[in-house]
Amino acid sequence: MKHVIIGASGQVGTYLYQKLDQVREDVIGTYYRHPHSGYVSLDMRDKEAVKSLLSAVKPDVVWIPAAMANVDFCEDNPELSYEQNVRAPEMVAELASKQGARLVFFSTDYVFDGVNGPYQEKDPVHPIQVYGQHKVEMEQYLLTHVPHSLIIRPAWIYSRDDNARNFVYRVLSELKMGRSVKAVTDQWNTPTPSDGLVNMAWKALQDGFEGILHIVGPERLTRYELTQRIAKAFGYSPDLVEPVSTESFQLPAKRPLNGGLITQYPSYRLVAGRDFEPLF
Ligand SMILES: NC(=O)c1ccc[n+]([C@@H]2O[C@H](COP(=O)([O-])OP(=O)(O)OC[C@H]3O[C@@H](n4cnc5c(N)ncnc54)[C@H](OP(=O)(O)O)[C@@H]3O)[C@@H](O)[C@H]2O)c1
Repeated sequence: MKHVIIGASGQVGTYLYQKLDQVREDVIGTYYRHPHSGYVSLDMRDKEAVKSLLSAVKPDVVWIPAAMANVDFCEDNPELSYEQNVRAPEMVAELASKQGARLVFFSTDYVFDGVNGPYQEKDPVHPIQVYGQHKVEMEQYLLTHVPHSLIIRPAWIYSRDDNARNFVYRVLSELKMGRSVKAVTDQWNTPTPSDGLVNMAWKALQDGFEGILHIVGPERLTRYELTQRIAKAFGYSPDLVEPVSTESFQLPAKRPLNGGLITQYPSYRLVAGRDFEPLF
């Protein structure tokens, strides 16, 4: 099959490209602000550019990991968030489906409020910040207008990459400089390894899964526990991780606290060692 990945230069996109390449699929990746050799430059808000890419490639599958994923930036810039997280992916989805391509969209656990997690696919959404609201809007668009889409919700994605957007890298960068790291003890979530995420996403696509699917790691942890595990795994003392509360950061966007996801479809639960290589 032929695949286009819009946002192959991002954390998930990088792993997705490698996975599809490894299983010998025909794959074209795009970048936006981080050039990458072998990828095509694309701003997904540019309708003519998207049209000409899709009509030249004629993909069977269009993946959209591309997003404006900085939750606080979205809160401060709701118009930009709408453009990037709703209007542009809607337009891509419409063009792709007109050409008969399958659509795979990456949503988020932030569609939930974090009052009563972990959440299953069937649970009602209730976002508490702009980013989550816009992801919900995009999900609703797909469910209504492009019903054969696969909508994946990961949570707290991490990887092995030297990429400033990777949480593990950010923690290690601080520890390497001899600094301690503050981490919140009151946010619970289900951290998702990028390798497991793309392996399961590929399986779901091959299975013809349609609709919303939660793909997350098998453990539910606080950000504090997660950060301590990362420190230990890389030979640093867990005491370098300082416990703090979410409130102490005074961030623009609210966070789900008692959050995290679980899938109601047992065959899509990630298993360490089988679906991903454990990092900690
Ligand atoms: N990271 C998490 O913990 C997390 C948790 C839950 C859900 N998600 C969702 O999972 C998906 C992937 O996340 P990620 O961590 O891989 O994000 P990321 O590393 O920030 O990657 C975002 C990608 O989108 C591209 N992009 C941004 N604006 C674009 C535009 N106008 N046109 C085309 N491409 C554009 C970026 O390109 P350049 O880098 O080249 O500019 C990059 O490739 C997102 O939908 C995110 O909302 C993430």
